[in-house]
Amino acid sequence: MKKILVTGALGQIGSELIMKLREVYGADQVVATDIRKKEADPVVDSGPFEILDVTDGNRMFELAKTHQVDTIMHLAALLSATAEAKPLLAWNLNMGGLVNALEAARELNCQFFTPSSIGAFGPSTPKDNTPQDTIQRPTTMYGVNKVSGELLCDYYYQKFGVDTRGVRFPGLISYVAPPGGGTTDYAVDIYYKAILDGAYTSYIGKGTYMDMMYMPDALNAIIALMEADPSKLIHRNAFNVTAMSIEPEDVAAAIRKHIPTFALSYDVDPVRQAIADSWPNSIDATAAMNEWGFKAEFDLEKMTEDMLTKLRGKLLQQVG
Ligand code: SER
Repeated sequence: MKKILVTGALGQIGSELIMKLREVYGADQVVATDIRKKEADPVVDSGPFEILDVTDGNRMFELAKTHQVDTIMHLAALLSATAEAKPLLAWNLNMGGLVNALEAARELNCQFFTPSSIGAFGPSTPKDNTPQDTIQRPTTMYGVNKVSGELLCDYYYQKFGVDTRGVRFPGLISYVAPPGGGTTDYAVDIYYKAILDGAYTSYIGKGTYMDMMYMPDALNAIIALMEADPSKLIHRNAFNVTAMSIEPEDVAAAIRKHIPTFALSYDVDPVRQAIADSWPNSIDATAAMNEWGFKAEFDLEKMTEDMLTKLRGKLLQQVG
């Protein structure tokens, strides 16, 4: 992995992954692309940036060719709640973008990464300690996209020898770019509201467990997987990874260690609750640990402390 093209570079993962990749591999080695350009954004200002609509396969190929990349990281996608509201758009964008990115990787002989999700599981999947290899019959459009994506990436590996690799991310928590349209986003919103209002009303119900991970662990996981010795990989698309299985009350309790008066209430959104209920409570990441040494550094307590400190700094700066 020497020269990398990233799609969805201004999104939730991209905003931080670009900066991390530029730190590790050099600023000019990472070509950030997104459908829009933001003024005065660290991603845009710190290295090469190109406008790219991922449904435009020709442009994706041309950009990858012109910049002579050897790796494509395809992040551009709609998240679960948005995909449920606009299923056809989600199919066209999520699957169309993926197949364009895989084609560019095939033609230019690039290594390839795209994230899958806990959304690739469904109601008939074992809910606790969900195994790496198990039933995948998701009932959301996002989940259908993710399972299809996993299969398509395996197909490109088996049929064309493209070095495709992926992880099933849990909900990702970060203070940098806010997520948009996800089901796990409550676990990000809650920190903003804790600092700004001292209270949060959760759209996900009490006792609803989902896996989560702090963004620094997610970025390290991507790099570790891409650098992993291929001869050690039994699986490819995609590895279960997680750092914690939590419900809203757990996050509230962790926040109260820093903000003792923090108040949590509920106003459950039936659409996102149904999505959450169809996903696992906790997934088993043993295959990722054994095959490429996956390890998460942040548990709920450590993440909460860091998140509150960093977010306070960011919000203060915005006010100032
Ligand atoms: N965070 C994503 C979502 O909630 C799951 O992959 O849609």
